[in-house]
Amino acid sequence: MFITFEGIDGSGKSTQAKALVSTLQAQGMSCIWTREPGGSEGAEAIRKLLVQGDPDRWSAETEILLFNAARRDHLEKTIQPALLRGATVVCDRYVDSTRVYQGVARADLRHLVDLMHETMIGREADLTFIIDIDPETALGRGLARNSGEDRFEDMGLGFQKRLRAGFLDLAKQYPDRCCVIDGARSVEAVQSAILDAYMLAFS
Ligand code: ADP
Ligand code: TYD
Repeated sequence: MFITFEGIDGSGKSTQAKALVSTLQAQGMSCIWTREPGGSEGAEAIRKLLVQGDPDRWSAETEILLFNAARRDHLEKTIQPALLRGATVVCDRYVDSTRVYQGVARADLRHLVDLMHETMIGREADLTFIIDIDPETALGRGLARNSGEDRFEDMGLGFQKRLRAGFLDLAKQYPDRCCVIDGARSVEAVQSAILDAYMLAFS
């Protein structure tokens, strides 16, 4: 199974993706955690270009090319091999982030994002958790980390609001695989909602 976590910056994706992997591994399942941009040596090198530096460093079009280059390497080197050996792959962000960040919030380029995905990637997730949270709360959490990877957070609150709306629209476009989770609760409460939805999806 290929499971992805999506949502705005600081919504709790990494925390929850890692918790799901630990739970599944504790049940004896073969399961890996990975992330985008990144998840393979080449894609991690591209990640540095994308998440650091000035918000105006790249146009939305250039970002689409860079995210897809990173994704193709990640798919070839990490995701496909793991799925082929029967492991569950839990990925922190995937193409839905490109659909919403580059396709809706940065620019109106959704057609280009979908075309690139169809042509160069061609793999959707089986289940996608969209962690929904109000951008003020998430931005406070995200920037508080001081990770040095804040290029997209630095695009501001209006940008994060467009992202939130974009992810909620996406959930309506793909109701079969997308599950919206209220992220404004304790880590444990969010975790339990995710496990319930996981069991429902794969029962
Ligand atoms: P994302 O991967 O979506 O950017 P993280 O999982 O890295 O989000 O969480 C961002 C910050 O918020 C981290 O410092 C994390 O410990 C904290 N955090 C995550 N989930 C919650 C929660 N439910 N309540 C409060 N703080 C949280
Ligand atoms: P990430 O490290 O997951 O950020 P965060 O922990 O703050 O949620 O992702 C890095 C940034 O890259 C994030 O701001 C979202 C952005 N991004 C895109 O704009 N398009 C994409 O296709 C992906 C995968 C990420």
